[in-house]
Amino acid sequence: ATTTDGETTDVLVVGSGIAGCAAALSAAREGAEVLLLTKATKPEDASTDWAQGGISTTRGDPESLKQDIIAASDGTADPDAVDTLVNHADEAVEDVLIDTLEVDFDEAADGDLDYTREAAHSEFRILHVDAATGTHILRPFLNFLDDHDRIEVRQDTAALELITAEGRVHGAVTDEEPEGHPIYAGATVLATGGVGALYGRSTNPDDATGDGIAMAALAGADVTDMEYIQFHPTAYDGEDPFLLSEALRGEGAILRNGDVPESGDSGARETESPGGERFMDDYHPQGDLAPRDVVARAVEAEREATGEVVLDVSPLEFETDYPAIAEKCRDRGIEGDEIPVAPSEHFLCGGIDVDDRGRTSLDRLYAVGECARTGVHGANRLASTSLLEGLVWGLRAGEDATGFAPDVVEAPELLNRDPDLPARFAAEKFTRLQQTMDEYLGLERDPDEIARASAVLRRLKGEVDAYIRTRTARELYELRNASVTALLIARAAGENTESIGCHYVAADAGESMAEPPADD
Ligand code: SIN
Repeated sequence: ATTTDGETTDVLVVGSGIAGCAAALSAAREGAEVLLLTKATKPEDASTDWAQGGISTTRGDPESLKQDIIAASDGTADPDAVDTLVNHADEAVEDVLIDTLEVDFDEAADGDLDYTREAAHSEFRILHVDAATGTHILRPFLNFLDDHDRIEVRQDTAALELITAEGRVHGAVTDEEPEGHPIYAGATVLATGGVGALYGRSTNPDDATGDGIAMAALAGADVTDMEYIQFHPTAYDGEDPFLLSEALRGEGAILRNGDVPESGDSGARETESPGGERFMDDYHPQGDLAPRDVVARAVEAEREATGEVVLDVSPLEFETDYPAIAEKCRDRGIEGDEIPVAPSEHFLCGGIDVDDRGRTSLDRLYAVGECARTGVHGANRLASTSLLEGLVWGLRAGEDATGFAPDVVEAPELLNRDPDLPARFAAEKFTRLQQTMDEYLGLERDPDEIARASAVLRRLKGEVDAYIRTRTARELYELRNASVTALLIARAAGENTESIGCHYVAADAGESMAEPPADD
């Protein structure tokens, strides 16, 4: 409904990935009117669309998936949160993905669903559509929501500030014309994704600027575990990087370093590939399928020691079984079976603190998907659990977020928009922010460097705050959100001196596997 200076809805969802879509669907199933906003010009431009490997199920054995999740997290995952995930996983996949959206998951030769495996999974339990699973889930999901008469999907619309009064959240102010358009909601669900844009190399879309996390933190919500940023071990090491799914290693692809064996020495070679030595067995008993944080640090150590690391896909039917990835390789001019790889920012395990229904510490504010910290991932996420977590928590939060009437309260006023002036300022500052994150808050961290990063980021945020008081534009808000989120990461990293999961503090080097193993 439209009010004199804005509009109202029962449930406002911000973000169009799987978590936001699931929240919208379940709220609408409860009878709520839902408005789903995305700042993307095409709603499918969400991290979900880029997800490759698949979505984990329990395949009837929740306990086994639970054990794998907890082991991958170095024992830091919250067992109650993991129970929520594994106990609702198969039902959510069946109900939404298979029955409602009719996702065309790959089938095995016997006509049954084909289950694949990724690193640190003890079973073949991951549903997939070649290795382009996210696209095949998100597109039908958005089409379904578009046809739903209680759901509106509005694109190219950014939420800039939450509307709050006395500890309760009442919706958000967006950047729709005229300056600042308030949308009052009975409940607000943040599903804004991760923080990939804070880093120079990421497997996320460019607009993953931490918006929901920053807006929630500025409104006073609890945010935790921000130091746990997962780096994927295998992104293409070159211009325009892209993800090389862990499913490739799950099905037999091998990491090799730059040490090419002398002729006649077959070494650890098992294929006709001309590349270097395989090395992961030296780092972890699970070899190429070790937990992601271990593989990422090993890849970085081997790149430094031997010059390069490649993913040898010769054991696979690469072109036939992974057409989407094979096409990306062709686009980049990669020939042969060896793809140069390097770690790349991939996923934020922490975020806005939520309970088992996605409720944040602020009344009527929910968070789901990558921007939320449910406790499922602890210090390191198991592969193919992010789509699942987004789906399960999205459904639970959407259901819980219904039944509240929207209140029209005083909304924050925004200043005149001037899109041209701030664009250059924002672009320059963004580059500085990324350089700081890459240099000081990447795969390996050092307490002095974290302190240096904090100082740079604090200065940068001060400049942005001063600018934002005079002008309002989406770029400035994204920069503000990125700098708030970066500071939360720096603060959490500085406060945690223990190397665990994907937070690796270099001073602890003796305890960990970041160094290449010494020759026997
Ligand atoms: C991948 O396909 O390797 C990524 C899967 C994930 O991050 O869960």
